[in-house]
Amino acid sequence: MGHESLILGLETSCDETAAAVVRSGRHVLSNVIATQHDLHEEFAGVVPEIASRAHLERISPVIEKALGEAKVTFEALDAISVGHRPGLIGSLLVGVSAAKALAWSLGKPLIGVDHVQSHLYAGLLDSKPVTFPALGLVVSGGHTSLFLVNDPLDLHSLGKTIDDAIGEAYDKAATILKLGYPGGPKLDALAQQGNDRAHTLPISMLGKDRLDFSYSGLKTALLYSVCGQPVGRGTDAHFLRDASSYNDQEKADFAASFQRAAIGAIMKNLIKALDRHDEITTVLVGGGVSANSLLREKLTELGVQRGLDVRLPEMDYCLDNAAMIAGLASIRFERGEFDDFSLSAAPRSAIA
Ligand code: KG4
Ligand code: ZN
Repeated sequence: MGHESLILGLETSCDETAAAVVRSGRHVLSNVIATQHDLHEEFAGVVPEIASRAHLERISPVIEKALGEAKVTFEALDAISVGHRPGLIGSLLVGVSAAKALAWSLGKPLIGVDHVQSHLYAGLLDSKPVTFPALGLVVSGGHTSLFLVNDPLDLHSLGKTIDDAIGEAYDKAATILKLGYPGGPKLDALAQQGNDRAHTLPISMLGKDRLDFSYSGLKTALLYSVCGQPVGRGTDAHFLRDASSYNDQEKADFAASFQRAAIGAIMKNLIKALDRHDEITTVLVGGGVSANSLLREKLTELGVQRGLDVRLPEMDYCLDNAAMIAGLASIRFERGEFDDFSLSAAPRSAIA
């Protein structure tokens, strides 16, 4: 039965309301994503109360659209899956409640999956199976983590950020450069016009034995490069310059220098992890920052140099989406691992 499974996935952990139908864990029949970026733009960040209200308004039409595009009926589904952790609790609850209501009313199994874990499944969608064990890299707004992946449901943490996540650092860097929200993609686009050697920004080093990351120092280094050292003390402290003191080329140079350091830190630890695990031939990558142009270029180069199967997800599967949720859920479905109606939303991941 597992090989022909038809699973609905729901994803509402942050500011995307998403539903998808996936057949046999691989074939994405539909992948509907309603973003809320317009609602949060004026606040330059996600406002939890606005996010959960918007999920509530959108979840039913998004589910109907996903079924319509996949040309399947509710009755044809084998299971209802949902990302139930980590995320904003009020947002997660909308997806979890919708999944429970559907599973109960249709009499279908309910499957909750971890959002971080599902990001690493994105490279398996619409694609060939991979060889395990693999190295897993999650780079998103909330996570920067390396895993040893024995199978998609069996992950061991090798390292993670000790402060900011890389996506968060991108978003803060974009705020420093006054690029608007959401900052990551805007900074990436601007960096492509800049000289990445214009400014020396630190690539974090946490000791040769560690595979952890740190992004708060890089963010502060960019702030001081752009704005100079603060003058005055206490509540009088202020900067004499800001991003508006620079022309477009100068801003692009800051962006490129930031991007070189941010992605450099990822590549450094990834290579260190590969050197320690020479049995590994697969690299799984996921999370919003896996859309980054420089990271994709560097990972592709590394794959060619070392003969690795590097799974860079298609763009639609990099950012938060429900196809990755339904894909990962298919493995639990095949194993007959279902949840009961006590499934709850949780703010933290079980694995990262
Ligand atoms: O995985 P995701 O959609 O949400 C979380 O689970 O956090 O990741 C969103 C993050 C944001 O911080 C966004 O700025 C970043 O991914 N991002 C990028 C790019 N596209 C999205 N960061 C750098 N370069 C990009 N092209
Ligand atoms: Zn995510």
